[in-house]
Amino acid sequence: MRTIIEPFKIKMVEALQMTTREQREQIISSVDFNPFLIRSEDVLIDLLTDSGTSSMSDRQWAALISADEAYAGSRSYFKFEDKIQEITGFKHVIPTHQGRAAERILFSVATKQGDIVPNNTHFDTTRANIEFTKAIAVDLQDEACTDPELEAPFKGNLDLEKLRALLEEVGPERIPLGMITVTNNASGGQPVSMANIRATSELLRSHDIPFIIDACRFSENAYFIKTREAGYADKSLLEIAQEMFSMADGCTMSAKKDAFANIGGFLAINNDEWAVQARTLLVLTEGFPTYGGLAGRDLAAIAQGLDEVLDEDYMQYRIRSTQYLGDNLEKVGVPIYKPTGGHAIYINARKFLPHIPPEHFPGQALVVEMYIEGGIRAVEIGSVMFGKTNPDTGALIPAKNELVRMAIPRRVYTQSHVDYVIEAMGDLARRKDAVQGLQFKLEAPVLRHFTSTFKRL
Ligand code: F0G
Repeated sequence: MRTIIEPFKIKMVEALQMTTREQREQIISSVDFNPFLIRSEDVLIDLLTDSGTSSMSDRQWAALISADEAYAGSRSYFKFEDKIQEITGFKHVIPTHQGRAAERILFSVATKQGDIVPNNTHFDTTRANIEFTKAIAVDLQDEACTDPELEAPFKGNLDLEKLRALLEEVGPERIPLGMITVTNNASGGQPVSMANIRATSELLRSHDIPFIIDACRFSENAYFIKTREAGYADKSLLEIAQEMFSMADGCTMSAKKDAFANIGGFLAINNDEWAVQARTLLVLTEGFPTYGGLAGRDLAAIAQGLDEVLDEDYMQYRIRSTQYLGDNLEKVGVPIYKPTGGHAIYINARKFLPHIPPEHFPGQALVVEMYIEGGIRAVEIGSVMFGKTNPDTGALIPAKNELVRMAIPRRVYTQSHVDYVIEAMGDLARRKDAVQGLQFKLEAPVLRHFTSTFKRL
């Protein structure tokens, strides 16, 4: 087979600023070893997130220029609504400034103290918005996902036995809605099968519990269904997405992912009562129902982006290029979470740096070295992000895994950028035994990964 090429050519470029190793050593120590605090112009390849970092297409920019900025009844809103209804079939389309605003509105309407919301794995903003209403967010992920080496097609699946047990234990009255996140970002970016979506939907609906999809990466998930699940090879991504959404009662979406937008999101639901309440909240903090938290031009860019993300040539390139990075990292001796998911590669930092115990943050040590080695920025998903300090003893309660996520912005980097990353990681692998651990200089009380500072041991 021939090389799967980027199915686009470049019309506008943004210069990258080169730095020397000495400069990067100085920069990372000036921010106390927290890459979140580096200025982006000092980063060469930025793999911190795939959120809001996409390149927009010429057609998106054209849509943006010709958008309608009317306060009420904007033409751009109706295009946005039409496109979302075509894909999801949901009755009410409520624009928000990003995914978490859709979450906040949904949970303000649907959940209350003591309620329980199951999901395969809640993303951290979803969990936080549920907990803000004093409800409880429960992860029911399939056990397959706990083994980073296991090659299975749908490690993002929700465990139906766990859902059945939860329903029996707490009763359906305490579960105002159930969710599935596609793909499962908090668990290796792994996809969810159509069979699992169907079975979850049937189980929830048999108890009259609404089923909501966190749809951030819905098209990436549809591509995995097409290529890995029997019976879908000949269906289009749009048809597969329509089938996924047909089993749900609504969705939350961050358009910063699978809509190629730099900002935006929406809540789409069938329930008329929820929609009335949601629009009331929308007016309070986001905006009038035909623009939500967005400008007309954002709505236009999202509608166009949603069309482009269902293009199969694009998605083949997207998933293949992520896999290419993963396969080659393994070849140069970097252990990764397997199989490769859609939007990111997760490095197993515990396995890569076995000489650094969780107390000395192997994932954080690795993101620091990646920056020094190649100007590459990634994010620790380990004991800095999810660990806790025991208030009595001061000892670390470590996270389950010590991972580093390399998220891949959409349509931004070319194969030679990716080859450069692989080469830099290979050089790092050769000197990994000399990498030192870190300790806190200043431990932030919440969301530690954003603002905590560190010193080398
Ligand atoms: N749900 C999932 C699965 C996500 O990955 C995100 C964001 C959100 C909801 C919230 O959307 O940022 O538009 O408010 N994930 C980004 C990331 C931040 O880097 O993974 P948002």
